Amino acid sequence: MRIAIIGCGYVGTAAARYWREKLGWTVTATTTRPERLPELEAIADRALVVHSSDLQALTAAVQDQQAVLLSVGAPHFSAYEQTYLQSAKQLIAALKSAPTVRQLLYTGSYAVYGDRDGAWVDESSALKPANRNAEILTETEQVLRLGAGECDVCLLRLGGIYGPERDLLDIFGWAAGTTLPGDGSDYSNWIHLEDIVGALTFALEHRLAGVFNLVGDDPLTRRALLEHLFHLHNLDVPNWDGTVAALPRPYNARVSNAKLKATGYSLCRPHI
Ligand SMILES: NC(=O)c1ccc[n+]([C@@H]2O[C@H](COP(=O)([O-])OP(=O)(O)OC[C@H]3O[C@@H](n4cnc5c(N)ncnc54)[C@H](OP(=O)(O)O)[C@@H]3O)[C@@H](O)[C@H]2O)c1
Repeated sequence: MRIAIIGCGYVGTAAARYWREKLGWTVTATTTRPERLPELEAIADRALVVHSSDLQALTAAVQDQQAVLLSVGAPHFSAYEQTYLQSAKQLIAALKSAPTVRQLLYTGSYAVYGDRDGAWVDESSALKPANRNAEILTETEQVLRLGAGECDVCLLRLGGIYGPERDLLDIFGWAAGTTLPGDGSDYSNWIHLEDIVGALTFALEHRLAGVFNLVGDDPLTRRALLEHLFHLHNLDVPNWDGTVAALPRPYNARVSNAKLKATGYSLCRPHI
């Protein structure tokens, strides 16, 4: 397998390592920052500086590949359009001169479902992005799905990512013993790095096409998540102040992973 990872950050690096070291695949990894090249050269066969606005560099990166993983991540909230939508459009343009590529994978987000008041959603649910950035992610999926021609497209809608060096305690530890607005009844869905690499590998090995949610088995309310986490680490659970309006809840849905499981993929870490 020859695979190019466009946007080799937290997820891309773990995938590159696994594919090259464990499976012997030939990996091309890209970054926008020349200073990251030595790091990527250590885990990939080919490391390239590619900003997706540079169509020539992007086309060179995907040349002669069998598969491409688009795993770009926005450096800040105001960069979604350039990072996701423009990258998708440019990649579709680049693939037009890369006929060897037969599968395109994308690590998207379950943010496209929006605030469903905690209801269950699956891949057949209507998309109701709750803000402009989630709309951009929705448009990004469309661009990839509709533009890739003969190439199989596998869109994965990830939960919040956790794993080594991105521990849930690093993300939420600040809340121990504090008072938070609302009642914490909004749901969130999470996925461990190991399962992101696992599911991407499975999708490549089984040539999956279509949309798949990639989340753990148990959506947890924010309250249940923090209580579980803080009990585990002997920290004070937060208090909830129901008299103060809760913050917007753009991810408040329980996301089903049944479709991915039905393909035969078995989660390594189904529970937080
Ligand atoms: N974080 C979460 O909880 C979460 C939840 C759901 C979905 N996701 C999605 O999962 C994916 C992977 O996340 P991650 O944590 O691995 O992201 P990350 O560590 O931030 O890595 C993102 C990569 O994208 C590259 N990049 C950014 N803008 C680019 C552009 N315009 N052109 C080319 N490359 C560009 C970055 O380049 P540099 O190497 O120069 O930095 C970096 O290599 C992302 O698509 C993210 O949206 C994340």
